Amino acid sequence: MTTPSVSLERPSYSEEDHQTWAALWKRQLPLAHQCACTLFLEGIEKLALDTERLPDPAVVSEHIYKLTNWTLGDAQNEYLGPTEWFEHIAERRFPVTNYIRRPHELEFTPLPDLFHEYFGHLAFFTDPEFADIAQLFGPLYLSAVDERQQLDIARLWWHTTEFGLIRENGDLRVFGAGLLSSIGEMQHALKPETPKLEFDIRVAAATPSAPYGYHEKYFIINSLDHLRQIVYDYAEMEGLPRPELP
Ligand SMILES: [Fe+2]
Repeated sequence: MTTPSVSLERPSYSEEDHQTWAALWKRQLPLAHQCACTLFLEGIEKLALDTERLPDPAVVSEHIYKLTNWTLGDAQNEYLGPTEWFEHIAERRFPVTNYIRRPHELEFTPLPDLFHEYFGHLAFFTDPEFADIAQLFGPLYLSAVDERQQLDIARLWWHTTEFGLIRENGDLRVFGAGLLSSIGEMQHALKPETPKLEFDIRVAAATPSAPYGYHEKYFIINSLDHLRQIVYDYAEMEGLPRPELP
């Protein structure tokens, strides 16, 4: 089976880049075992990345394609525009960067680097249920009729897949990739004094993202089903078509 339409080049990385990648894994994986949700911990095993050497995107893309029919796309090393982003998502293509943070940025980097993409996000895309729910955000966003709805939907994605928490057996576990890939922000989010709110669509949609610093509050979902329901409920509240998988 060959992965469709992937043009992902692997830059030549320096030895220092590989060491940064390895150092991030060494720091973050033990913490993830304490704090991350089951979906992540099972997914990271299935992803089976080399923790010592930076990944080859084409190889990882093919691996994920075999598991859930998602592929990787090229994020061109910066934040894509939201419409372009959700066009990728609607096509079951997850855009990734190919840049690795500098050694002094181990705790936090404002740009989504390779560690954020591969460690934070890709474990989830090994799960067929998550993979289908994530895709629903594509048609939901693309059906929006104005900029307010577009911003709402982008924030619903942000406050779940990037910075969300999930309830498991009565405990809070980390769900969002932005938290999983940032030691600094994960610890900040889990402090008892940091506000954590039950997910409310209107409140989350009115809460700006904070891509260049830590968030002031975080939102809790109860399950993957809850995430799917958020997509359906938003469509219903706004009179948009219920998003379907093609
Ligand atoms: Fe991300």
